[in-house]
Amino acid sequence: MKTHLHALCAVAVLLCSGVAHASSPASTSSTSAGETPRNELVILDSVTQSRPLPNGIELTSGRAIMQITALRDDVIRVRVGLRGKLPEDASWAALKDARTQSVSVTPERDSTRVGFRTQVLRVQVELASMRLRITDLEGNVVQEDEPGRPVEFHGGAFRVYKAMPEDEHYFGLGDKVGPLDRRNQAFTMWNTNQYGFQESTDPIYKSIPFFLTFRRGRAAGVFLDNTWRSSFDFGKESHTAYSFGSEGGPLDYYVLYGPDPKHVLSSYAWLTGYTPLPPLWSLGYQQSRSSYYPESRVREIANRLRTDKIPADVIYLDIEYQQKYRPFTVDTEKFPHFSQMIADLKKEDFRVVAITDLHIADLPHAGYAPYDTGIAGDHFVKNPDGSIYTGQVWPGTSVFPDFTRASTRAWWGSLYRQFVADGIAGFWNDMNEPAIFGVSNKTMPDNVQHRIDEPGFTPRTANHLEIHNVYGMENSRATYDGLRTLAPDQRPFVLTRASYAGGQRYATTWTGDNSSTWNHLRLTTPMLLNLGLSGFAMSGADVGGFAGTPQPDLLTKWFELAAFQPIDRDHTSRTTADQEPWVNGPEQENIRRAYIEERYRLMPYLYTTAEEMSRTGLPIVRPLFLEFPDATKDKHPIDLDAGSEFLFGPDLLVAPQPYPDELDSYQVRLPPITWYDYWTGEKIEHRTSRSKPVVVHPTLSVLPVYVREGSILPMQPLTQSTMETPQGPLTLRVYPGNNCKGSLYLDDGISYAYSRGDFLRVDFHCEVTRQGVQLHIGKRRGSYPAWWKNLRVEIYGIDSEPQSIRVNGKPETLQSTSFDASRHCVDATLPDSGEAQDITIDAGNHSSQSTQAKPAQQVSHAGNTTEQPTDIVSEQ
Ligand code: GLC
Repeated sequence: MKTHLHALCAVAVLLCSGVAHASSPASTSSTSAGETPRNELVILDSVTQSRPLPNGIELTSGRAIMQITALRDDVIRVRVGLRGKLPEDASWAALKDARTQSVSVTPERDSTRVGFRTQVLRVQVELASMRLRITDLEGNVVQEDEPGRPVEFHGGAFRVYKAMPEDEHYFGLGDKVGPLDRRNQAFTMWNTNQYGFQESTDPIYKSIPFFLTFRRGRAAGVFLDNTWRSSFDFGKESHTAYSFGSEGGPLDYYVLYGPDPKHVLSSYAWLTGYTPLPPLWSLGYQQSRSSYYPESRVREIANRLRTDKIPADVIYLDIEYQQKYRPFTVDTEKFPHFSQMIADLKKEDFRVVAITDLHIADLPHAGYAPYDTGIAGDHFVKNPDGSIYTGQVWPGTSVFPDFTRASTRAWWGSLYRQFVADGIAGFWNDMNEPAIFGVSNKTMPDNVQHRIDEPGFTPRTANHLEIHNVYGMENSRATYDGLRTLAPDQRPFVLTRASYAGGQRYATTWTGDNSSTWNHLRLTTPMLLNLGLSGFAMSGADVGGFAGTPQPDLLTKWFELAAFQPIDRDHTSRTTADQEPWVNGPEQENIRRAYIEERYRLMPYLYTTAEEMSRTGLPIVRPLFLEFPDATKDKHPIDLDAGSEFLFGPDLLVAPQPYPDELDSYQVRLPPITWYDYWTGEKIEHRTSRSKPVVVHPTLSVLPVYVREGSILPMQPLTQSTMETPQGPLTLRVYPGNNCKGSLYLDDGISYAYSRGDFLRVDFHCEVTRQGVQLHIGKRRGSYPAWWKNLRVEIYGIDSEPQSIRVNGKPETLQSTSFDASRHCVDATLPDSGEAQDITIDAGNHSSQSTQAKPAQQVSHAGNTTEQPTDIVSEQ
């Protein structure tokens, strides 16, 4: 933007009422406190004064003031105000408790620089240039301003330039479309309804101004807490600098140091909030379309899922269940027994999620309660002349709640009372960018007025320009808080389309109106990964694509992939053909079912991962570099060489074709440890540069999945819904190797009883000994009862019949043991009383050597015959 701003002023001096270095008197002359004259250019390019603070430093440059403080030893906040005053310390995203935390720092100063150090970081500002540099205490640069590119303000707009080392990579910024690495791209943050978006479309639905920098195995996070239209440029404008800026609002950013990328994500969650533990059912398969109606059709879909034995937990009601698309109504002609239908579905173990868009039909004197009560409470946004703003959306002319007001959010929350009483389990907040039809900017005018009434903010009226990007988040917040009030002991499930940083506290999200194309299937992975790197640890994309009807193979491949994504929801637009798992005939349905079934078998692993997410902020799907930051020789992120691979939880690596419609063989790039093929049990030894690559010949029915050595995966017998109690033993799949561990977390799946101790947690460890493998099962913690009585232990990487199996050192009569040579697996079933136990498998020859590729085979699991990947070459 320096180019933009300087060019603007250079070529059209008259446009600029002042071009001033902040430290020069010209910049201080003509304005009142807190305001910047339109078009004045202020450049913070030298320090005129500095003042150490207990937790940082305050610098001035003329009347501009920059405060740099340490919230923690590894979290730095930078704030700038132009008229001797910092911007208001208020935020929709950064939690007050985190924002106001501070640590003492040690001031540092020499003839050219001032700054401070914490226990982890050194912050230095060059006096002559006001260049900010943050390093760790070993001198590794975390971030530094680009030389010759000081912070600039142009009227209310600002831009910050940071040096961009050649080998630095950038991730995050929510679900912006395009490659995983944001380098060489530029993005705008402006929540936009983008039906049919494509790879180059920007902006789309969400604005999450947080990104990770990753260089040589070290990561940091940068969060620009600014809700206005902002932009991020990672090397499009310049090859040596990346930059961020906004059209207005505060310059207020945080630098969160790793160096471990996981630590950065945890710190970001500490700052902006964690994704709460979701209801278990939301991790089940979700069936949606625009729209299932009438009531008989909803029941028919539910019945078909059950008769075809496709495990499923959720059915969605899209806008057609409403009377004339009016939120919080039910079309009783289409749904004559609405609450009975919900109750009946519940008996079949289905939950219902209903859409409740934010636009309220503009219906005075019609007995439409959301309108009437909204008017009575003065809850709708207004035009500058005080009249209520109206816009066209699904219900026709509509009015829009002012979610920036606490009282409006409370009123909105109360609108859910009847639906909660009806037994609707979750709610879907769509169109909340907000989307407005028939206008070229697709949203409200910039000058619509919001009356901020929010703890931390001075009550004031703000233009839509300032609020636009948080409007959807505040909508989902109102829903979440409302549900917490109406059903205090039930975990809400809210699905939102638009959001802002911190929105993960209230709702999960999906990537909006994607398309039924192979390219969109491919784009799904980087979108979900980047969402996960931006706080949205749990998200999904419409399975099969929203716009258009997928070809049979595309839909099948999409089902395969989505089985390993946080939210697995099949959804499509009202103009498309059917898109349920059974369309295109039994052959395709069998494959789709097999993957959904596998997700249900993996539910204990998935739920345990979700619980970890709720405590740590770590996403459910992860790029490889998150778990393996040092995986490459020069420590660039291994994902750059790894096609479309990603991790599902900490232990499973999913390796779809890099281009899903191409049938060519492809190489799987595995991080440098030993892996096991999830489907065949085949062990793939740690690859060295001399190893032959792992090559996959793609087939329709196989999505390659690998398990990291040292994993212990808890799995359960197949159920048709998460509400069904699994029958049979808890399975522990043990993949011996370094740092062998796993855990299981369980609770009632719906309430907050876990916070009162009603959960079950067990940790597992394993060791490879000379004789074989020893598995240690920890003592159960928490009061939640286990559903199993027996444990089935499957130990992989075993090449011959075990000689003995001992439990707590004693030879034990086990209910059953068997050895499956084709899967290199010994399994044993034993009683599980909940006490700690040690299980020792004396295998004699537990293999630490590689196994050779096996000839093609059919492996049957749980009633479905799936062709397994047999083409993994694992020679050293
Ligand atoms: C929007 C949503 C889509 C929904 C439709 C009708 O396009 O993104 O998921 O089905 O509106 O409500």
